[in-house]
Amino acid sequence: MISRKSIDSVIESSRIDDIVRDYVDLKPRGSNLIGLCPFHKEKTPSFYVSPSKNIYKCFGCGKGGHPVQFIMEAEQLTFPEAIRQLAKKYQIQLEETHRPDDYSTENKELESLHILNQFALEHFKSNLWKDPVGRAVALGYLKQRGYNESTIEKFELGFALDANDALLNEANQNGFKEEFLQKLGLVTPYHKDFFRNRLMFPIHNSTGKPIAFAGRILSSEAKIAKYINSPETELYQKSKTLYGLHLAKKSIRDKNQCILVEGYTDVISLHQAGIENVVASSGTSLTEEQIQAIKRITPNVLILYDGDAAGIKAATRGVDLILQENLNVRIAVIPDNDDPDSFIQKKGTTAFENLLTEHALDFILFKLNSQLQGIQNDPVKKSIVIQDIVRSISIIPDPIRRSIYIKETSSITKVDEQSLIEVCNKFLNDLKKQRAIQEKRKALDHDEQILKEQSDTLTQPGKQMTSVLGLDEFQEKDICRVLILYGHLWYNEQEGISYASYIISNIADTLPYFENEFYKQFILDISSQISEGQLPDINYFLSHSNKLIAELALDFSINKYEYSSNWSDKLGIYLHTQNEPDQNFYADVHQSILRFKLKKYNKAISDFESKFKSNELSEEELEIELKSHQHIINERNLIAGMLRTVIIQ
Ligand code: CTP
Ligand code: MN
Repeated sequence: MISRKSIDSVIESSRIDDIVRDYVDLKPRGSNLIGLCPFHKEKTPSFYVSPSKNIYKCFGCGKGGHPVQFIMEAEQLTFPEAIRQLAKKYQIQLEETHRPDDYSTENKELESLHILNQFALEHFKSNLWKDPVGRAVALGYLKQRGYNESTIEKFELGFALDANDALLNEANQNGFKEEFLQKLGLVTPYHKDFFRNRLMFPIHNSTGKPIAFAGRILSSEAKIAKYINSPETELYQKSKTLYGLHLAKKSIRDKNQCILVEGYTDVISLHQAGIENVVASSGTSLTEEQIQAIKRITPNVLILYDGDAAGIKAATRGVDLILQENLNVRIAVIPDNDDPDSFIQKKGTTAFENLLTEHALDFILFKLNSQLQGIQNDPVKKSIVIQDIVRSISIIPDPIRRSIYIKETSSITKVDEQSLIEVCNKFLNDLKKQRAIQEKRKALDHDEQILKEQSDTLTQPGKQMTSVLGLDEFQEKDICRVLILYGHLWYNEQEGISYASYIISNIADTLPYFENEFYKQFILDISSQISEGQLPDINYFLSHSNKLIAELALDFSINKYEYSSNWSDKLGIYLHTQNEPDQNFYADVHQSILRFKLKKYNKAISDFESKFKSNELSEEELEIELKSHQHIINERNLIAGMLRTVIIQ
């Protein structure tokens, strides 16, 4: 248990902006800071940090809270773990009585895996520095490659002995379970060490915990794989990891640029030469997750690849992904069959920095130059290359950048600009069509999403709703449905109140905000009929002279419970109405009205959030708005709660 006093002093010392900056590139916006949310994928920033209030809030995914909550979320830690991490950061000595027993089993297991990896790391390190063979073979090899001791220490390099069970034995002696060693891939199912006679490169997560290992052979024997890696585990997903990120974060931020190389040794050599804003994709092409991780810190990427054909291919692969994210991509190719590691070792830091400043080409120009080589006089091939480049350009979201690239391409290829613009527009149109199809699909999924969010609200009333704009029509239609199906029935016979008048009186105040004009007119019509003493029923609507109304009625009467059954399937809370709808129209009508109101309240809430975000409110206005905002949230939660219970009658 950590003492209350210690916890308080950690909380008091924690500065939200300071902490978030380790993960997110923040820009000032009024009195707030704003950046890309680290908790969900987004292209435009909706993640806010208020240094004065010491809180963060994402208006995209709804996550928010104080510094400890941020660390818990970002690192997937429990409260005491987060406190410990912050205490380390702010160098606060914690008063702790005994190891806490407040971990969930899952966290306990993750923690054990981390501890075991750390143990293995120490084991390999000690082999390298203390074992005579390790010193002679592995440390010797590293030194001969030009790495000095502090570099070797910094990357925590190690050595796996040439033995079947060196690690397994030592782990056993220290009370670690073989089951966990196997889980981490350190021991094979045949009870042998997985890494044997290899130079060990620990792979860390962005906060510096070891999550996996790569082992390199020491000989130049071509028959066995040069590197073998830990398998993917709960701790380590290759596609999400960038080698060296934990050591590079600060420098990437300071220099506002991230250098991307292929290999572990490239990262290490660059560090030794004083260039620290470098990470490796570890031999594979960049993944979306890796790009997102970089984008949170800087928009500028410099890709550094070997000059051979494979290197160039690797460099151009995956770049569309980067362009699409609006990152600025430059590429420098290392000449003469060197890689960044061998180049800098041979030629030194100054030559290397020259290479970066003088030979780094903007990606599009790079692609043009490398692909046009030797085919300038082959019109067919040339046209294929140009098409391909213009397609890459069309992916760039920023139109100004697009037009600059088109100009460049035109002047290099001597193809007139207008033709290139036409080709580009064609690609843009294709993209638009593709996106429209995706949007449609998304809209279909959206209903489901809303249901899920609403059910989340039901279970966690404190959670903020995220944006649910634009789909009011769904609820508006549902109101029409209950009007058509049940409007003519008595809500209260003694007092002569029909369901139609009951429904309309409940939603009348929202009529001006209807999104769908047709539904609104339809409801107004019924309303005027009621005031003339009429009470239309389903047959009236089915034979209506307005074809649209007749179709709507038909639709509802054939497929009456389309909505509620859909909702009930998803939420499991409308079962009574689903089974016997005609006997339960009271509940059906109520739900329809409540869902409708829930919708409108949610809209009011997100409207307020966008006003809040745009900082257009003065302090006084904000205070008033906040009060009514809270009122609306209460109402909304009340309705959400009723939606859950009202049907069970
Ligand atoms: N790689 C791998 N498995 C292999 C070969 C390569 O995982 N069998 C990955 C490693 O991340 C490696 C990167 O691809 O760092 C680049 O490969 P390569 O250029 O062959 O290795 P270097 O890092 O240059 O290693 P060295 O300089 O020691 O040869
Ligand atoms: Mn190399």
